[in-house]
Amino acid sequence: MVFNLGYYYNISKLLIEISNLSACFDPSLRGHNLRVALISLAIANKLSFSREFLLNILIASLFHDIGILFFKEKEQVALLKEENFNSRAIHLHAEIGFNLLNRYPFFKEAAKIIRDHHRSYSEFIGSPQKFSFPAQILFLADRVDVWINNRLLKGYSLLDAISSLKGKLEEGRGFLFSPKLLDILFNFYYEKEAFWFNLYTEEEYVRETVVDWLDRLDFAMSIGELLRTVNLFGFIIDFKSPFTATHSSGVSQTATHLASYFHFSQEELRKMKIAGFLHDIGKIFIPNEILEKPAQLTEEEFFIMKSHVYHTYRILSRFIKNEDVVEWASYHHERLNGKGYPFKLKANKIPLGSRIMAVADMFTALTEERPYKKSISSSEAVRMMIQLSEEGELDTQVVSVLRNNLKAIDRSRQISQRLAAELYGELKEVVSSFESSCKN
Ligand SMILES: [Fe+2]
Ligand SMILES: [Fe+2]
Ligand SMILES: [Fe+2]
Repeated sequence: MVFNLGYYYNISKLLIEISNLSACFDPSLRGHNLRVALISLAIANKLSFSREFLLNILIASLFHDIGILFFKEKEQVALLKEENFNSRAIHLHAEIGFNLLNRYPFFKEAAKIIRDHHRSYSEFIGSPQKFSFPAQILFLADRVDVWINNRLLKGYSLLDAISSLKGKLEEGRGFLFSPKLLDILFNFYYEKEAFWFNLYTEEEYVRETVVDWLDRLDFAMSIGELLRTVNLFGFIIDFKSPFTATHSSGVSQTATHLASYFHFSQEELRKMKIAGFLHDIGKIFIPNEILEKPAQLTEEEFFIMKSHVYHTYRILSRFIKNEDVVEWASYHHERLNGKGYPFKLKANKIPLGSRIMAVADMFTALTEERPYKKSISSSEAVRMMIQLSEEGELDTQVVSVLRNNLKAIDRSRQISQRLAAELYGELKEVVSSFESSCKN
């Protein structure tokens, strides 16, 4: 069954929102993935009209830098913007991106393109069976945008940036870049002013052009793919910090399990699963220094921390038309006595789904370790939460359902968190084996 896109979720926008997260560490990367997508598509379109081919290139372009969400050091992020692109270290973000996306059948082809998007043309020609050709398109598009954007940021005009581009690319002809792809760029686009004006304009406009492309290519997902994709996005959010690496998986499972005792329909349970995976998506905007601070937050820091739920609301409202999912996800820090945040809602405005999410979030967080606190056992957590429900913070009924079914709920939470932990461990392994191979 293909999901009815117009109904609940605008998958195109979802995809774009998540792929934009790669810019959250470095504002100068904003819009980079969108522009790269448009440049790649323009070139690819001269090679083939195959929907599959174009769609995979588009998805790969959007997500090509997603691996940087794993980077701690700013230097590694800076590498992506460097114009000298022969460094081996640059392959790390491509490897991470590949390892993350390759697990999902829907993203498999895009994953291969991402893996090879810093391979030079000579490497590709040396073993064309080993490396993906569409990756050559992405490589060229990426370098075009890095070159131009860097110049614009340095205060050069767009005309200056374009004029110097040609010579730079020609230096790499046949060695770094495929001659055929360079010819396409130069013969069809380079002289056409509108091509550049379309790219280096307001981000909103570029974003809309990408959405148009997705629509034109009939981008759609089955409901199963949608769930798996949202699950993947939950991982991308959680992996920002090792302390929250399995959090959204635990919350999603706990909330869905709790909701099943309240006779939620299959459809509602699915919505709960999605809301759980995405409830902390706004944390992407919170600096790790605050997320991982090993002491109490200052008033200022806590104020910033509170904005994560506001960002969740804002991001989700952009692509989910269904109020339930948005509210269940975004109200998880609201409290029945009105003392929560950030909307200061009172009980009559907090739906059952959000109350369930609040309980699932707190339960999961209490049983996890953080730099500022130790984990506590699930029964201790429930004891604390009963206290809080008596104080008017949490829903008494939801907490008592948790208490009465603690064993079953806790077991399913642990299983789903174990799966997330395994994936996180595997990706960490990719990083460390890559780093040691760079040293040798
Ligand atoms: Fe890039
Ligand atoms: Fe939260
Ligand atoms: Fe949370």
